[in-house]
Amino acid sequence: MKVALGVSGGIACYKAAEIVRRLQDGGLDVAVLMTKAATQFVTPLTFRALSGNKVYVDLFEGPQSGTDFEGAFDHILLAQSIDLFLVAPATADCIARLAAGIADDFLTTFHLAVRAPVVVAPAMNTRMWEHASVQANLQTLINRGVHIIEPEVGQMACRTYGPGRLAAVEQIVEFVTDLLNRPRDLEGRKVLVTAGPTIEDIDPVRFISNRSSGKMGYAIARAARDRGANVLLISGPTELQFPSILRVRTTEEMWRAVLENSTDVDVVIKAAAPLDFRPASIAAQKIKKSTAALTLHLEPTPDILKELGTRKNGKLLVGFAAETENHVQNGLEKLRAKNLDLIVVNPASGPDSAFDSDMNHATLIDASGHIEEIPLVTKRVMADKILDRVVQLLK
Ligand SMILES: Cc1cc2nc3c(=O)[nH]c(=O)nc-3n(C[C@H](O)[C@H](O)[C@H](O)COP(=O)(O)O)c2cc1C
Repeated sequence: MKVALGVSGGIACYKAAEIVRRLQDGGLDVAVLMTKAATQFVTPLTFRALSGNKVYVDLFEGPQSGTDFEGAFDHILLAQSIDLFLVAPATADCIARLAAGIADDFLTTFHLAVRAPVVVAPAMNTRMWEHASVQANLQTLINRGVHIIEPEVGQMACRTYGPGRLAAVEQIVEFVTDLLNRPRDLEGRKVLVTAGPTIEDIDPVRFISNRSSGKMGYAIARAARDRGANVLLISGPTELQFPSILRVRTTEEMWRAVLENSTDVDVVIKAAAPLDFRPASIAAQKIKKSTAALTLHLEPTPDILKELGTRKNGKLLVGFAAETENHVQNGLEKLRAKNLDLIVVNPASGPDSAFDSDMNHATLIDASGHIEEIPLVTKRVMADKILDRVVQLLK
């Protein structure tokens, strides 16, 4: 397997040399990409000698000027050939450019062409690390599914103490190795995931929606992608990001998108919370405020799960249920009514409610009646638990 190691210009650059060695000890092929600033700290020759591979710094050097130019660009070819992109150390500047999608050097242009998992290990002075813009940029990357290896608290090169020091080399190497060794048990499978709420308009300025954040569905999409699946995510309005995504707004739009894109898929996982009801008509003008009570007439929206259940054609269908009581009984009833293969029942109220939380606990019930309780875990862990069951059911 091949790892691209992006090295940006911080004092911790020298530790990247050790990262190269340790990744190679684990049998990985490593290609190093450096920013120009990084070459001020360590020479490309060091990485060339350690990795045994070309070191990429300049976007415009190479094939374009030589006779070997055959229309292939290094940054695209390399991006297609790697299993993981690690940026360590990642400077505040590099994180900002990754978050903004800037492509002004080899490393950042390459980043936009990468479809493999991306891991970022920041390293910087504590005051820089705590700056709101750095934290906002990291959040953007997290929302996009990038893995962040948090820096350590410790003595900094600038003689201050605090968070910002590059995570230990062993921790970085272990994280990368774990990610690469995740089972690729969905390789060759097409998986359709839905996520988020839907929105139904009342008038030009008002709408109804629900509290779904989309975090569970996005976690499933990312986990399925990391396990080798070809994933399409159909999402209602959220702040979250995913590379192959179809964004919709209303339940009817989600219904259409799901039906149009589910014919040749192996698995459909409906983690979205589409609205079950919508205003029977949308007022053309803003409804004027008045003291009289307003009655909204609601009509049912299309039942996406039920429709999928009637036209399964061999695909595996996973549904979600948010319940406030009788979890198992209500879950089983929904599983049967919608012809599902697996249902994930979440608590919809109380302190462990899954809404907008990074944590979740659930009861997984399959069509044979097998029940599995998953305790409170992160949504990423929950995503892998659900996919473990999907893989078993696909067999
Ligand atoms: C001696 C020195 C050490 C630096 N160390 C860091 C650092 O650890 N982290 C960081 O984010 N920036 C650090 N910088 C600032 C970056 O080098 C600077 O922001 C540069 O533009 C980063 O470019 P790059 O992101 O393209 O590599 C340092 C600068 C100097 C002069």
